[in-house]
Amino acid sequence: DGRPTAVTIHADRPGPVYDRRIFTQFAEHLGHGIYGGLWVGNDRSIPNTNGFRNDVVAALRNLSVPVIRWPGGCFADEYHWREGIGPKARRPVKVNTNWGGVTEPNSVGTHEYFELLRQVGAEAYISGNVGNGTPQEMAEWVEYITAPAGSLADERAKNGHKQPWALPAFGIGNELWGCGGNMRPEYAADVTKRYATFIKVPAGTKTVKIASGANGDDYNWTEVMMREAGKHLDALSLHYYTLPQGGWPPKADPVDFDETGWADTLAATWRMDDLIAGHSKVMDKYDPAKRVFLAVDEWGTWYAPDPGTNPGFLRQQNTLRDAMVASVNLDIFAKHADRVRMTAIAQMVNVLQAMILTEGRKMVLTPTYHVFEMYKPWQDATVLPIDIDTPWYNKDRFVMPAVSGSAVRAKDGKVHVGLSNLDPNQSNMVTVKLDGLNAANVSGRILTASAINAHNSFDAPQVVKPAAFTGAQIANGVLTVALPPKSVVVLELR
Ligand code: AHR
Repeated sequence: DGRPTAVTIHADRPGPVYDRRIFTQFAEHLGHGIYGGLWVGNDRSIPNTNGFRNDVVAALRNLSVPVIRWPGGCFADEYHWREGIGPKARRPVKVNTNWGGVTEPNSVGTHEYFELLRQVGAEAYISGNVGNGTPQEMAEWVEYITAPAGSLADERAKNGHKQPWALPAFGIGNELWGCGGNMRPEYAADVTKRYATFIKVPAGTKTVKIASGANGDDYNWTEVMMREAGKHLDALSLHYYTLPQGGWPPKADPVDFDETGWADTLAATWRMDDLIAGHSKVMDKYDPAKRVFLAVDEWGTWYAPDPGTNPGFLRQQNTLRDAMVASVNLDIFAKHADRVRMTAIAQMVNVLQAMILTEGRKMVLTPTYHVFEMYKPWQDATVLPIDIDTPWYNKDRFVMPAVSGSAVRAKDGKVHVGLSNLDPNQSNMVTVKLDGLNAANVSGRILTASAINAHNSFDAPQVVKPAAFTGAQIANGVLTVALPPKSVVVLELR
């Protein structure tokens, strides 16, 4: 049953690698993203290791989080790293001017961040302060982290870490067009070159320099950055949030929405495909070899905050709708994996489209978490091109492809296919032609729920969770999938 959908997977034409950094997570000093969500310090009532919650770290380890971007966001362009090192009692208490005007104790600084990475098993992506910091301050931070010898290395050792840390990625500021300094692209390009010049790491190591990129469809920003600074960069970022109900400021309720709110959100998410194509086209002009990658290092849903929470904390519930936003984006990134080699969903814990929500001792995994877990085999797998002749889904003025998908061949040779049905009312009967693939067996999992706004709460944490999927068969080299409405299905072919 269901509307017929024809899909072809071209296993005979393997594409680029689906870089594991596409699963980067973003952790900003914002609301309870760090304090309370990850870090509980000396609070013995919440089991922790060196200050980081054991429950949250275990859940993140299970996702194989490859990279954590820190400390912002907007916070980064006012952050002075020296305030976050040395004895905690001597660290200044600042005001978090971007996020709620609350105090920032500086309890989590460079050493704590690297301890978090160690516990989670992730790599570093630090965003430096261009906004109100100097090139010298930035250069010294990089030296403090990476230098094997010298007075900054001695200081690091005195503070408890003798060995240099690895710093695979560094951001030259954040949103220089906005909270990072309200710059014109011409000015931002010059400033970026200046700061990037002084980011120097020891011989034999490499730190990817990521410039602050465009907001949404600001192609001129990408044009000017690539033209003026492209040669000095390894990557350029792009920020695009899914904002239903007419865009900024965020006003949609995270949970209380109808089918129009569902369709509005998913249509806004599909825009990512056009945006990446548009920015890639500009980048191709200056960098046809695709040396500079596009880092979509902020994406996800941004709704009105949960009722009763501090609006500056950007705390929002997460439903089946968010799960679909995640799968559609992860599929779009597969299509553009030749240029997109890093992305970061905003944000990891308790902020915007989070993996995990906490409240005191309690923790819950969101539907988005489950999609990230189901898509784990995509990390560093080879993209297999996919053609989807999808029916359309429309509600009111929102029209979009009903079926999204991607396919990869993992390092162990297994092929994994993700298929999402965005239509909340109609199932799809998907027939998948497997070009260049001899598979005889299929197994899979599904994420769905009875309601479009189904979500997990502290009281009912298992409402939306993956289940075994039995609706797929392979016969005579053809895979058929009965794809239920509003579902994300991930299959493994052998
Ligand atoms: O993720 C929240 C904020 O959104 C970030 O701090 C900023 O970069 C963006 O505007």
